[in-house]
Amino acid sequence: VTAEKGGYEHFMLKEIHEQPKAYRDTMRGRINAEGNKVILPELNITEEQIKNIRNIQVVACGTAYNAGVVGRTMIESLVRIPVENDIASEYRYRSPIVTPETLVIVVSQSGETADTLAALREAQANGAHVLAITNVVGSSIAREANDVLVTLAGPEIAVASTKAYTSQLVAFGLFALYLAEVRGTQTEAQVAKILAAMQALPEQVEEILAQKEAIKGYAEQISEHKNLFFIGRGVDYAVAQEGSLKLKEISYIHSEAYAAGELKHGTLALIEEGVPVIALATQEAVLEKTVSNIKEVKARGADVLAITHQEHLTDLLRSVDQVFVIPKTLPMLTAALSVVPLQLLSYYASLALGHDVDKPRNLAKSVTVE
Ligand code: AGP
Repeated sequence: VTAEKGGYEHFMLKEIHEQPKAYRDTMRGRINAEGNKVILPELNITEEQIKNIRNIQVVACGTAYNAGVVGRTMIESLVRIPVENDIASEYRYRSPIVTPETLVIVVSQSGETADTLAALREAQANGAHVLAITNVVGSSIAREANDVLVTLAGPEIAVASTKAYTSQLVAFGLFALYLAEVRGTQTEAQVAKILAAMQALPEQVEEILAQKEAIKGYAEQISEHKNLFFIGRGVDYAVAQEGSLKLKEISYIHSEAYAAGELKHGTLALIEEGVPVIALATQEAVLEKTVSNIKEVKARGADVLAITHQEHLTDLLRSVDQVFVIPKTLPMLTAALSVVPLQLLSYYASLALGHDVDKPRNLAKSVTVE
């Protein structure tokens, strides 16, 4: 059994370690030799259709939804097309505004999630072009979508999704750059810079994985708590949501993810002496604001772990209890790195509590009921 887990104790830990490979495989053959152009010959969508897109809706469930939230920031910042994120089980009942100029992107590791499949059908019935980002080539969602962008994460067995999420981020990055090329919203030099940063991600993930013992120690501390909080702004908030979902899913510890600036509108009342707060602070543009939100929780006695870049340390150090440093990347790509310590955190917390890491209670790998 450990052989199929590649020597790891659990599939989840194996899959966390497969992320550098998943990144490389998802990018392979999709970047030109000069490193300044994305090539996606598998797509049916025409340049004319791309030029006519007026809005994009990204529809998915759970972790795939969380990846879509990061995807939205990539598309909006690089292409300036308005993007909405929708939870698949909500999408079709809210009578979404879809026109032939709407591109709907459904995201699904398994390609079999019933809610996401139903959303895809709803979008097509309304005339939208549907692109699926999926990890399973022959899946129902891949077969029914108008276009498929495959993530090459390899089979994901653990119920908690890890390498599928990170590969979805890379797929969104590639697709956003492709849209930018066709619509002429980024220069070749800008595209080259982003692609170079994307190609550095696999090695940067290795650097994070080499520090997993530090996360293990922290996970053991938080496993004694009943409640904790994840906070961040922008992309950091999107990652906070994924970190919180992962922790709940396999460690059964209650947590909430909050947009850091929103705490003072209610949730701050829950912060008391000793409550762990994991603060993601990678976004330079809002760093000062995030630091002041960290001070707010600190003043109420929270025990703060910051996940940040080395260069932000001077601003942060006085207001946090512990720090986990991640390698430097472009602000729009930080999710691809900052999620890794959070995956490890939920893994080790689950382990410390003696839960079935790969098969958490009440959950299925692929949810085929609506
Ligand atoms: C993630 O850890 C979950 N197990 C779950 O949220 C999952 O991402 C969701 O059910 C969607 O699955 P899919 O990507 O296969 O559609």
